[in-house]
Parts: sequence; structure tokens; C-alpha cells
Amino acid sequence: MAVGSYPCYLLILSMILIIIPYTSQLQPSEILSLLRIKRLLNYPPVLSSWNADTDFCSYEANPLLTVICYEESITQLHIAGNGTSPPLPRNFSMTSLFATLYQLPNLKVISFTSLGLWGPLPRKISRLSSLEIVNMSTNYLYGPIPKQISKLINLQTLILDHNMFSGRIPDLLGELPQLSVLSLKNNSLSGPLPDSFSSLKPLRVLALSSNSLSGELPDLSSLTNLQVLDLENNYFGPRFPSLGRKIVILVLKKNKFSGGLPAEVDTYYFLEHLDISFNRFTGPFMPSLLCLPSIHYISIAGNRFTGMLSQSMSCNDELDYVDLSSNLLTGNLPTCLISVSKNALYSANCLGMKDHSQRPFSFCQTQALAVGIIPHKEHKVSTHKATLMIGVIGGIAGSICLGIVIFFVLRRPSRNQGLNKHPRSSSEHASVGYSTQMFPDASCTLQTMKLGALGISPYRSFSLEELEAATNNFDTSSFLGEGSHGQMYRGELQDGSLVAIRCLKLKKAQNPQNFSRHIELISKLRHHHLVSTLGHGFEYYLDDSSVSRLFIVFEFVSNGTLRSNISDGVAGEKLTWTQRISAAIGVVKGIQFLHGGMVPGLFANDLKITNVMLDQHLVAKISSYNLPILADDMKCEMLARNSSIVSKEPNQRSNHMDKIDIHDFGVILLELITGRPIMCNNEADKIKNLLQENIASDGTVRRQLVDPAISNACSDESLMTVAEICLRSLSKEPTQRPSIEDVLWNLQFAAQVQESWRRYSHSSEELQSLPSPPALSCHHHLHLHNILIR
Ligand SMILES: *[C@@H]1O[C@H](CO)[C@@H](O)[C@H](O)[C@H]1NC(C)=O
Ligand SMILES: *[C@@H]1O[C@H](CO)[C@@H](O)[C@H](O)[C@H]1NC(C)=O
Repeated sequence: MAVGSYPCYLLILSMILIIIPYTSQLQPSEILSLLRIKRLLNYPPVLSSWNADTDFCSYEANPLLTVICYEESITQLHIAGNGTSPPLPRNFSMTSLFATLYQLPNLKVISFTSLGLWGPLPRKISRLSSLEIVNMSTNYLYGPIPKQISKLINLQTLILDHNMFSGRIPDLLGELPQLSVLSLKNNSLSGPLPDSFSSLKPLRVLALSSNSLSGELPDLSSLTNLQVLDLENNYFGPRFPSLGRKIVILVLKKNKFSGGLPAEVDTYYFLEHLDISFNRFTGPFMPSLLCLPSIHYISIAGNRFTGMLSQSMSCNDELDYVDLSSNLLTGNLPTCLISVSKNALYSANCLGMKDHSQRPFSFCQTQALAVGIIPHKEHKVSTHKATLMIGVIGGIAGSICLGIVIFFVLRRPSRNQGLNKHPRSSSEHASVGYSTQMFPDASCTLQTMKLGALGISPYRSFSLEELEAATNNFDTSSFLGEGSHGQMYRGELQDGSLVAIRCLKLKKAQNPQNFSRHIELISKLRHHHLVSTLGHGFEYYLDDSSVSRLFIVFEFVSNGTLRSNISDGVAGEKLTWTQRISAAIGVVKGIQFLHGGMVPGLFANDLKITNVMLDQHLVAKISSYNLPILADDMKCEMLARNSSIVSKEPNQRSNHMDKIDIHDFGVILLELITGRPIMCNNEADKIKNLLQENIASDGTVRRQLVDPAISNACSDESLMTVAEICLRSLSKEPTQRPSIEDVLWNLQFAAQVQESWRRYSHSSEELQSLPSPPALSCHHHLHLHNILIR
């Protein structure tokens, strides 16, 4: 068809040549195409001057219309409607429009914005193989983004903002070898960002805000050129994206990110604009972000960041907008934020301000402990609600922010030149250099977590997801047992360490102040002779976000209970008398810590030989202590159990709380001596009486009552000492029971006597198996202890 009418256009062409000899001449087919485009776009005002005589190539460019020619072809075509044009009439067709564009074979740039284009983007778009830049923002394009677009191997910039595209981002889009700007803001795209993006090296700007995209982001850390990542208002998450260090603008606002900020954020030395507001971030806010060398804008509003700010913290001088509002921050606002006339927003935290903008300290304390863990199954419902709510709150702030992002995107080229001055190869070294150079102020560097003094990991909070992963969704194969206060599960953390997890169902009406005090106490239950707490996690009621289940994570102690080590023996070996005394000393030290090592002390710990665990070095650890969270329940139960002892003297009850544990410890000693499992209180009384009767007139214990496994290898004096302290501990009258210090002293004495006896007794079977120990002293408990434990 074009070929047939060719001579006619040659005529026109020659006329143009005659009239305006100095401009480049378009091929007639291209002129025809332009006129056709005018008709297909329904004669928009901006094209009103176009006619067959127009010299398209020398037409003066203006913001709404630009045609750029090279040799005899159009290479760039920019046509813009004004503002929001209504959709084109019914007889408009994208297919026809593109069929016309195919007649412009050298077209490198198409910008058709605000023209009321509607319909799907044709799949044949791949025929425009020279395309480098496409901007079709603010139209009514719908349907999926055709995957054929990934055949446009020269495409560098694709902008389809403010349309109605739906479906997924095509998998292969990330394989476009030159793509450096992708902007798909304000559409209805869903699904994840394809993995192919993780190798999209040239990508500089990725703007996907206001869609329904979701899921984990692919690893973007190798995108060393990525400077702008705008994911605002989607459902991405939960993990913070991993990014290259050149990021300049990072907007994660209003998504489903949770957990803490990774430490690398500290090394984003080019970061100017950070907006992570209205997610579910938890964990400590890094004050060092305030003094990143390039930072201008930070918003962390509407998360659950914790941590204490102090007046002396420093900020980057360039910082001009900081929004910390609606978090769980305590302490004082850094002076550097107040002093200069900076936009610093900080309401709805627990900072020490004199105004009414802050919440009570206890609120942050309680909420900080309940770090953003939501039941897995109900996850969708609750976060959806939250997102809606947040959406309303964040709407206004969002539009302001968007403006700023656009501003940054637009002025990117100049910034880019600046960045390129840094040679790429040295960037790693440069950043290391920065970290010491840029942060001379100690308050600006991230504090490293203090390691637990016990050789166990620091106390922390666990997410429900983490606990579910550790226990295989609380599978029965992980189930260890059930007590009156919930179930115990065995778990394996991601680093391979084993833990025991106790699940406690909580009643609804928890007094938040009490609750946070309880959790604080739990975090202190860390001692060499306790099965120590490693952390906690929560599950919430959906309606009011109060805690429904509490998970307490303990170290996993591997070597069985004290009972199994004396009755069955582990691997057939029953504990020797020396080892039994040593274990008993461990238990007493554990009790001592429970009673006096913290305020308020924990009493009535339901001590049982089956609740004492041994680790691989046979160190005794108490596993079932009176968890503060259960204190009230437990106390009643314990008092009921010990009613014969305590209830007779209710007024003095509190004075003798410690003696309940002494009594229970006596029962453990009884079992250590006799080797007989004691299952109930009656039995304890019976055996106690037997022991009493078996103390001979010469002050020794008759051996028939003593566990045969040890009776040949224990000294009379040590046996007698332990028996005596055991009987005193089992006194009916609490006041007649010895103090915990008294018990400890006697056991240490018994250990010393036994040790001397063992060293000089050639008949001892223990002798061969033990190295000759150095001299012992009563004053060196630890020393003694180490020796006693092989
Ligand atoms: C669409 O219809 C209008 C008249 O209703 C007409 O002027 C216009 O040329 C038509 N457009 C196309 C692309 O056929
Ligand atoms: C794309 O078009 C929009 C108009 O809708 C404009 O604001 C934007 O600056 C354009 N982008 C580029 C890179 O030309």
C-alpha cells in the first residue's frame, strides 16, 4: 500500500525540498505515519498544526511536542496531552497506533503521555527493535505488560506509571541487558519481583510504588548501580532487601517488612533519603543512621523500633527531615535534632519530653517486649487490617514523600556524575575508610551486643516464624513433654544450636506493667546452674493485640535428668558419690541464685530430681523454676502441695518461702544417697524415716540403705555429712530446716572429705579413673567444683 502511493509522496517531498532547503527531509512514509498518528489520537490540540506540509524535523520542540530526526528518520517522538485527558473514543485502537509506529523503524524514544490511550500494550511491540526509551505514563493502558517487551534489547528506560496494568511483572524483564530505569508506579501489578532482577546490572532506578506487588525481593546486592529503590505502598516483605552500597534513595514505606534493620544500612554512605515508615520493623533503631554522611531525609515513623536515644547523639549537618513518630523509643531527643530548625517529628514515642506528645514509658517497655510477632495463620488478616489503617494515616505523608522521590529521580543525572567520580574498584576500600573517618563520635557507632558471660548467646527475642521453623511447626516429633503450664518442645535454630521451647497460654487480662516486669525477670534467668533462658517470643490475640501465648526459649541441656543419671545411668554408668555431691552443690548454687540473685527472688520452684538436668560435663542445671509469669498460679499450687508445712502459719509464710525449696532439695539428696526413685511425698517420708533409723550409734550410715552403686566408694564422713543435712532439710518445721548457705557449706565439706578419702584410699575404684587432684580448699568453691566434675 505504501509502495503503491510512493510516487505521489516523492512529489510532496520534492516540494518540501524546494521550499525549505536547509532542513533534513523525512522519508514520505514517515510523514504519512505522523499524520496517521494525529488521526489515531483523535486530533489532539497539540498536533493541530500538523499537516502534509509541516516540516516535522525543524519544528521547534516544546514540552508537549518534540520530534527529533536523524538523517531521514524520526528517532524521537514526544507527544503529551495536558493533565488528565479523558480516554480516547471507542474507535481508538492501540494495535492500529502501534502498526503505524512500526513504520518508523529508527524510533528510539517514544513518549506518549496523558493522551488518553487505552487498551493493552500490543505484543508486537518487540518489532520496535530500536527502542531505547519508552514513556507512556498517565494513560489508561491495561492488561498485562507483554512479555515480548523483553525482546527490546536496546531498551534502557521503561516508564509506564499511572496506568491500569495488571498481572505480574514479566519474568524476563530483568534480562533486558541495558535496562537502567524501570518505573511502573501506580498500576495494579501483583505478584513478586522476578528473580531475574538480581542480575540486572545496569539498573539505576526501580520504582514500583503503589501496586499490589508482594513477597520477598530477590537479592539486589549485586546491582552495584542501583541508586533509587521505591517500593512504597505494596506488600513486599518481610525481609529487608539486600542492596548494593550505592543506594541514594530508599523508600520501603507502607509494605510488610518486619524484623530488624540489617547492619549494612550503616554502610550506605550515599544514602540521602531513607523512608521505611509504616511497616512492622522491630528491634533497635540505629542512631548511626542519623549521621550517615549523605543523609538528608529519614522517616522510620509507624514501626516498632526500640532503643534509648540520648541528647548527645550526633546528626549529619545536612539532615533536614527526621520523622521518628509512633515507635517505641525512649530516652531523650538528640539535641542535634532540636537545635537546628530541622523538621523533626517524634510524637507517640516514650521520650522524655515535657509535652503531651509522648506515651507513658511503660507502654514502650511492654510493647518493646512484644516485638511484632503475630500468629502465623492469622497473619494475613491482621496485617491487612494494619495496612489499611496505616494507609489512611500515611496517605498525606505518602503524597509528600512521593513528590520528593520524583524530585530526586529527576535530578538524578547530575548526582550520577558525582558518583561516577569514585572509581568502582576501590569502593569497598573507600567504605571501610569511611567507617572510621566518618564516625569519630562513639555515640554514632553501632554498639555491639554484649555477649552473655555464660558462654551462651545473648538474650534476645525470637519471631514466631523462627520458632515454628525451629520446631517444624511445633510438630509432635519435637514435643518433649507437657506440664501444668504448657508444653515443652525441642527446637533447632538456624545456626544449628539446640533449644528447648516452653509454650505458655496466657490469660487475656494481663496487667501490662506486671507483664513487662515478668519478662524482664525471665531475661535474667541465666546462670551456670540453671537451664538458662535464651529469649522469648509472643503470639497475639487478634482483637486487642494482647499476648496470647508466650514462648520461652531455653538452652538445650543434653545429658538427661539427674535421676536418669543415678538410676539407669547414662550409657550404663551411674554417677559416683563424688559426682553426686558435685551435682547437689550445683543445684544448691542454682537455688541460691533463684533466691538471692535477682529481685524479687524466686521461691517455691517445684524442685524435683527430674527437673535437674545434667549437661555434657555433668554440670547440674535446674530446669523448672518458678517462672515469674506464673508466679501467682504456681505459688497457690505449691502452697497447696506443701499445705502441711506452710498453711499452719500463714502469717509467717513469706518468711519461710525459701524453706520450701530446702525441703524439696532434701528429697533430691535422699534419692542421691539411696538411689531409690522417690515418686511422692509419702515415699519421701518413709525413706527419710528409714535413713534416720539407719544412722548407727557410731555416727555412720549403715550401708544397706545406701545405693549399692556408691556404697563401696564413699567415705563414712562425707556420707554422714550429707545424710545429716538431708534429714535437717526434711524437717517438718520450716524454721528447723537449714539455710541455703548452711546446706552449701555442708556439701562442700562433704566433697572435700570425700576427695581426701578417695586420694588416700587405695581400694577406691574411682581412683584409676580420676587424675590426681591438687590440694583442696574449702574457700575455692569453683576450683573444687571443677575438679569434682572430672
Ligand atoms: C473515530 O470516529 C470519529 C468520529 O466518530 C472519527 O472522526 C475518527 O476519525 C475515528 N477515528 C479512527 C481512528 O477511526
Ligand atoms: C514520563 O512522562 C511523565 C508525564 O506523564 C513525566 O512527568 C516524566 O518526567 C517522564 N519521564 C521521563 C523520564 O521522561
